[in-house]
Amino acid sequence: MENEIKRLEEELQRDFQEVKSPKDLETLKIKYLGRKSTFTQLFSRIPTLAKEERGVWGKKLNAFKQKITSLLEDKTIQVKNKQEKIDLTPPSVSLEVGSRHILSTVSTKICSIFEKLGFTIIEGNEIEEEWYNFEALNIPLEHPSREAFDTFYLNIPEKNQGKYLLRSHTSPSQIRVMQDAKPPLAVISPGRVYRPDEVDATHSFMFHQIEGFVVDEDINFAHLKGVLLHFAHEFFSTDVELRFRPHFFPFTEPSAEVDISCIICKSGINKLKKGQKCSVCKGKGWLEILGCGMIHPKVLKACGIDPKKYKGFAFGMGVERIAMLKYSIDDIRLFYENDVRFLEQFSL
Ligand code: DAH
Repeated sequence: MENEIKRLEEELQRDFQEVKSPKDLETLKIKYLGRKSTFTQLFSRIPTLAKEERGVWGKKLNAFKQKITSLLEDKTIQVKNKQEKIDLTPPSVSLEVGSRHILSTVSTKICSIFEKLGFTIIEGNEIEEEWYNFEALNIPLEHPSREAFDTFYLNIPEKNQGKYLLRSHTSPSQIRVMQDAKPPLAVISPGRVYRPDEVDATHSFMFHQIEGFVVDEDINFAHLKGVLLHFAHEFFSTDVELRFRPHFFPFTEPSAEVDISCIICKSGINKLKKGQKCSVCKGKGWLEILGCGMIHPKVLKACGIDPKKYKGFAFGMGVERIAMLKYSIDDIRLFYENDVRFLEQFSL
């Protein structure tokens, strides 16, 4: 009997460590004190013992029963406490969730319109070499057009392709892609550009552009017009018209600047009174949105593409300008100040 009690005690300790729920406790109670339990069986053997032993074993078994009962009680309290534990930590302050910046939203939207037409998105380099930013794009060193692309030069020792600089436009992406990949090509390339401009309501030393271009056999100006009209309809509204004004860019020939019919006074959102001028187009009825043209043969040649076999069109637009037109924003500085009262209005 001595051994049996000992074994039972060991088993009991083991079992109690496993207890996790009130249900486990109930099971243990039945196992150790129930009618069919080893303990009850031991108890029922007392009358069969010698007289002088009965008292000894009765005491021992009662002490054991006491032990089981108090273990069960302790464990019941523990389990209960665990289950009803009250979490006293105060609720956390709900954090403001950020949202996309309007420039990212607009840039992504523009790119996705071209992506659906089969264009591939490629990010160019913000730090460029002189040759990519100028010469390869047919902007010669001493040419006055170079002034239009005033540039931040970097104090880094030059390597193969001239001085390092912060690109002043996204057009060098054309060169990077055309050097590496052969036509047919349809690429859209968004990114930051830098120019040492005085900051005012329409200028910033850093802004964003999106470059697009297509190169293949038999590409002509009509393809360019079709693609840009589709873009304008998708991005602004299906009732906008496009106007192509002849212009000069060294990297395209012929070149054009493209206007859309004023989205404010023409679309009838703001019905103008007689004699009143639209504050967005200043009464002109047209808004300039981008520059474009047929890729100059010299540019194709610089990239190792045969201009007799292949033609291409290219265009470049300013993301800030497009966003300002679309949302009637009158100061470019608002994009960079990151005042949440401004940004919140565009967290779509
Ligand atoms: N790179 C020009 C600029 O920064 C924009 C531009 C004009 C890009 C005509 C083009 C283009 O690809 O064909 O002003």
